[in-house]
Amino acid sequence: MFRADLNSIFRETFAVSSTVSLKKLIDEIELLEKEAEKNIQEAKNEESLETLRVGFLGKKGRLSVILGSMGNLPGEERPAIGQRANLLKSALLELISKRQDSLRLDSLEKAIKTETIDVTAPPIGTPPGNRHPLIMTKEKIIDIFSGLGYGVVEGPEVENDFYNFEALNIPANHPARDMQDTFYLENHLLLRTHTSPVQIRYLENNPPPVRIVSPGRVYRRDAVDATHSPVFHQVEVLAIDEGLDFSHLRGTVMAFLKEFFGDLPIRFRASYFPFTEPSAEVDVQWRGKWLEVMGCGMVDPAVLEGLGIDSERWTGFAAGLGVERFCMVRHEIDDIRRLFTSDLRFLQQF
Ligand code: DAH
Repeated sequence: MFRADLNSIFRETFAVSSTVSLKKLIDEIELLEKEAEKNIQEAKNEESLETLRVGFLGKKGRLSVILGSMGNLPGEERPAIGQRANLLKSALLELISKRQDSLRLDSLEKAIKTETIDVTAPPIGTPPGNRHPLIMTKEKIIDIFSGLGYGVVEGPEVENDFYNFEALNIPANHPARDMQDTFYLENHLLLRTHTSPVQIRYLENNPPPVRIVSPGRVYRRDAVDATHSPVFHQVEVLAIDEGLDFSHLRGTVMAFLKEFFGDLPIRFRASYFPFTEPSAEVDVQWRGKWLEVMGCGMVDPAVLEGLGIDSERWTGFAAGLGVERFCMVRHEIDDIRRLFTSDLRFLQQF
């Protein structure tokens, strides 16, 4: 109030020298106000609102230009113009923000109206999934052994040294540990390197006779390449009974492989595993080459005795196979990594 009064006094006092420019500035501000109000109200979207804000109130906007010419006014008149300009500025900013709100609301309402979901529209359908080739392979293997009277037993992937090595006749510092380096966890736990520990866990609680297969994930400290992965799958086979000998092992393995691969040539090769004696590796002839597909052997009496099982009375055989290898041969897959990368173009072929 006080200032306004002073202004009118000054206006009268300096009427001659400054009325024109003061009035001119005030006129300009009022003109700008009207024009801005109108434009803001009519702005069609947020973008043009922003353009208006910059054009009227920005650093190089029209209000700044007006304020710039304030320098021509006598000092006493300037505050009035400054105050007027500030009021205008905050009024316009408020107007812009209101307009912005209403534009947003409008577009929301429009979206609600136009983007309705037609619940009566016919479905476009959910593409049917299919089973992963590795799972299908595992199921096929289990299916064959089920037909031979084997039950399915699973064991933990996090194991300890005893089940993964010791009880399988692989004491500390045994060279066989070299090929089965793994991932070690706290409290002497490790990720199992094979499904063989399930033999021990099962025999601890189930007296012979025993016929089981044990599928599952296993881990090795292997670099990844076309045929190696630090995680892969095995199926363990175990049969313990009175009077089992190598011919039962051979007969079982041959029956299984014939069922799985059809009539591919099969050969047994003498080999070594700490937990079987004698031991063998089994090869299948594929694309003119012998391909190793599983290890097997007669369960070493030391393993049975370690479990308190009378090895004079009970004998048996065991075998272990890699599911990925079986899957790759069966489906002619060239690279193990394809089985783990979830590429639908690959997976949809099965
Ligand atoms: N556990 C062995 C491995 O992972 C595979 C194996 C070989 C299992 C011979 C057996 C067996 O039960 O008798 O390399």
